[in-house]
Amino acid sequence: MNIAIDGPAGAGKSTIAKKLAKDLGYIYVDTGAMYRAMALYFLERGIPALDKAAVCGLADGIDISILYQDGQQQVLLNGENVNDKIRREDVGNMASAISVYPAVRQKLVALQQKIAKTADVIMDGRDIGTCVLPDAEVKIYLTASPYTRAKRRFDELKEKGEGCDLSAIQKDIEERDFRDMHRAASPLKQADDALLIDSSELGIDEVVEAIRKICRERQ
Ligand code: DC
Repeated sequence: MNIAIDGPAGAGKSTIAKKLAKDLGYIYVDTGAMYRAMALYFLERGIPALDKAAVCGLADGIDISILYQDGQQQVLLNGENVNDKIRREDVGNMASAISVYPAVRQKLVALQQKIAKTADVIMDGRDIGTCVLPDAEVKIYLTASPYTRAKRRFDELKEKGEGCDLSAIQKDIEERDFRDMHRAASPLKQADDALLIDSSELGIDEVVEAIRKICRERQ
């Protein structure tokens, strides 16, 4: 059984998917981390996202792979483990900007589909239910209000001791949502057969339990 979880930035997809994967004994595949690793490649070389020819020309040759260490996904970029480098806001924004290009998507979708063939997976991203795993047995569209998502990110950064501004984070999130939802290639949208869960007023455990219930019904 494959479980697809899509939704905008900060909806809680990865927290929920990680917990579910542990409970169910599935492999968690964080596809955003793959787009982030590719984004890091371009950032480190000073190649702007708007340079379509350079980004598309290089995308296919960039070696992105994943492996699991103690059950945690690690992303390798040309053989280097870049897990610790890809969580920055600039990397997330660059990932959103380069993910509009079909050449980038084709490369990473092929990798994601290959992984899903080898095991039961819980995969999260923007196009999993609509494009990567159209036959997934369970599809969830997880969302929350922009304010709730920005506040969660704000609290996370504050806990890490990083200074930040709540309204700037919300603006960033709204811009990223708009780009992810309005691109021509596999935009973020709820698949026709996906169930909508709004996590604005729900705790992590409540969302996990709701999805577990759906999985039990589908088995
Ligand atoms: O989930 P995330 O914030 O790590 O994703 C970073 C960006 O990567 C996101 O804004 C858009 C892109 N992305 C995508 O286009 N398709 C996916 N399946 C996952 C991420």
